[in-house]
Amino acid sequence: MGSQLSSYPDLASLAGRDLLSSADLSAAETSALILLATDLKAGRCQVDLGGKVLGLIFSKASTRTRVSFTVAMARLGGQTIDLNPQVTQVGRGEPVADTARVLSRYVDALAIRTFAQAELEDYAHWASIPIVNALTDLEHPCQALADYQTLQEAFGQLAGLTLAYVGDGNNVAHSLLLCGALLGVNVRIGCPRGFEPIRELVEQARSLAPAGCSIEVVHDPIAAVRGAHALYTDVWASMGQEQEQLEREQAFAGWCLDEALLAEADSRAIVLHCLPAHRGEEISAGAIEGSSSRVFDQAENRLHAQQALLAALLGA
Ligand code: CP
Ligand code: NVA
Repeated sequence: MGSQLSSYPDLASLAGRDLLSSADLSAAETSALILLATDLKAGRCQVDLGGKVLGLIFSKASTRTRVSFTVAMARLGGQTIDLNPQVTQVGRGEPVADTARVLSRYVDALAIRTFAQAELEDYAHWASIPIVNALTDLEHPCQALADYQTLQEAFGQLAGLTLAYVGDGNNVAHSLLLCGALLGVNVRIGCPRGFEPIRELVEQARSLAPAGCSIEVVHDPIAAVRGAHALYTDVWASMGQEQEQLEREQAFAGWCLDEALLAEADSRAIVLHCLPAHRGEEISAGAIEGSSSRVFDQAENRLHAQQALLAALLGA
């Protein structure tokens, strides 16, 4: 670790590491990343990643994650290179074991968006450079860092706040559970029966949460949001589940994050959504466009949180 991040001693342990799951970070590392992201956003800290190159392997569509990683590297003086399966030999079946070892000789880190968490783990096994989860079917840890940065901006601190996520117990919900537990945020997932987050992951979040911090799964939208400081939702059908769209629209009837649900939350509650959003499905136009919404600050924070992450992993 050079001198640039010497004011953030809890980040020193992240140099050279992977971020495959929100739970790969300690509580101190998570808090320090959010602090650095906030300082970078405010211009209180400068990081130079001159000469560093981040490779992007995206097997699914992306606007925010792809662009924010690209701009993050540019702002820090580094570069990105698009290594999408369609333009590399990955799309023609070159094994991960070979791709990961070759790319480790060229680039300094890889951000990977794919379906199976096991594929990401395979890259991490074979690569000698940091591997970052840019979304899998299981988790979206970069999103959670930006989300909790946004919550902290709204309330000045995080421990003891309650974040209510209503909707599908998906990748975004999983990372919110783990990252929230590390930060001492009470996380309440409200979902229809059959769409719960993975049970083992809920247990993992409970094991990470400090005493007094609660991790709950409920099946009633009003019970989920009552008194909460943030109301969060995501699409009902994630990438790869497009064929389940109609069936899910029926299963999630009554689970729209709308003004009526917002009225049950704390009067200062903010509305969050990772985007892209489907207005009139998981969120009402009034909720996403209303004065409580912080979704565009949240999207902006992807840039700051990822700058902080890249600076720490690349040992700035
Ligand atoms: N929230 C998010 O990850 O958006 P993209 O799919 O556009 O990257
Ligand atoms: N759960 C969504 C998040 C998109 C950012 C998906 O995986 O498609």
